Amino acid sequence: MANRPIVVTGANGNVGVPLVEALAEWGVFVRAAVHSEETTFNAEVETVRFDFTDETTWASTFRNARSLFVLRPPHLSNVEAAIHPALDAAIEAGVEHVVTLSVMGAGANPFLPHRRIEKYVEAQPVAWTHVRPGFYMQNLSGTHQTGIARYDEIIVPAGDGAANWIDTRDIGELAAVILAEGREHNGCVYEPTGPKALDYHEVANVLSDVLGREIRYRRPGLWRYIQHMRQDTDFELGFILFSCLLHTLVRFGLSTRITDDLEVLLGRPPRSIHDFVEDHASAWRRET
Ligand SMILES: NC(=O)c1ccc[n+]([C@@H]2O[C@H](COP(=O)([O-])OP(=O)(O)OC[C@H]3O[C@@H](n4cnc5c(N)ncnc54)[C@H](OP(=O)(O)O)[C@@H]3O)[C@@H](O)[C@H]2O)c1
Repeated sequence: MANRPIVVTGANGNVGVPLVEALAEWGVFVRAAVHSEETTFNAEVETVRFDFTDETTWASTFRNARSLFVLRPPHLSNVEAAIHPALDAAIEAGVEHVVTLSVMGAGANPFLPHRRIEKYVEAQPVAWTHVRPGFYMQNLSGTHQTGIARYDEIIVPAGDGAANWIDTRDIGELAAVILAEGREHNGCVYEPTGPKALDYHEVANVLSDVLGREIRYRRPGLWRYIQHMRQDTDFELGFILFSCLLHTLVRFGLSTRITDDLEVLLGRPPRSIHDFVEDHASAWRRET
């Protein structure tokens, strides 16, 4: 068992990097399945090129693997065509435990692509575990990075609603524990969150305090938000509509639930948004 690798998809993403690094640090054999081949990990991490939609990359990725971490790339929504065939190949190759990265609330949303992946995996002859995290703090250094660095503002249609912000470094570490411990997590669903639900006014205040300049929160309605995203950014329509859905849930107070799943599995509290902003302050250095 020990000489069979754990395969991590999305290995160069927000969750994938800390997940691969944690497994490698613990001496677990990990194979990083990277899409664009830009990320370099420590020498002990095996790296393969992988594309969910290119079957010529599957055999080398899944060869002799014992477990698989499945991340749905945000632009792949037709999961039946884009993700499930690769899962079949992984299971055919001998993978025994599949850990899915999903989203909090997926259990109540059968049409969500994440839930469709979860259900597909549950129907296969493998052990499975679902990780359904809350709202990523890394959205602030990703999606919102340009707005904050260049214009000192965050623009989302979230009203005064709060979200249960979690640092993806914590999600990666939690997934690493599940993958390393393996089958004892079979049939389990974890919903990790940060320590406290905060609205975007409060998030903007933390950014302002740490960065030493005022960061404003603008909260347009849905239509004005879509117009802004279409005219002023390069984001694709599918992403914009998904963002509308997520922030509508926030607006109506449906993303505030805090759990202790992370603390139970890691034996320490989750990182706070203050920790996150301090650690990433250079991401929002003022651009002119
Ligand atoms: N944002 C949130 O608040 C939030 C909350 C809960 C759940 N989620 C879910 O978390 C997931 C995103 O996680 P993340 O932020 O860690 O991801 P991410 O940083 O956006 O990275 C996406 C990864 O997918 C890879 N990828 C892209 N196209 C691929 C393909 N065709 N085949 C294989 N890999 C491909 C990318 O590789 P390259 O960069 O090399 O292309 C990258 O490593 C999504 O499913 C999202 O819905 C997000």
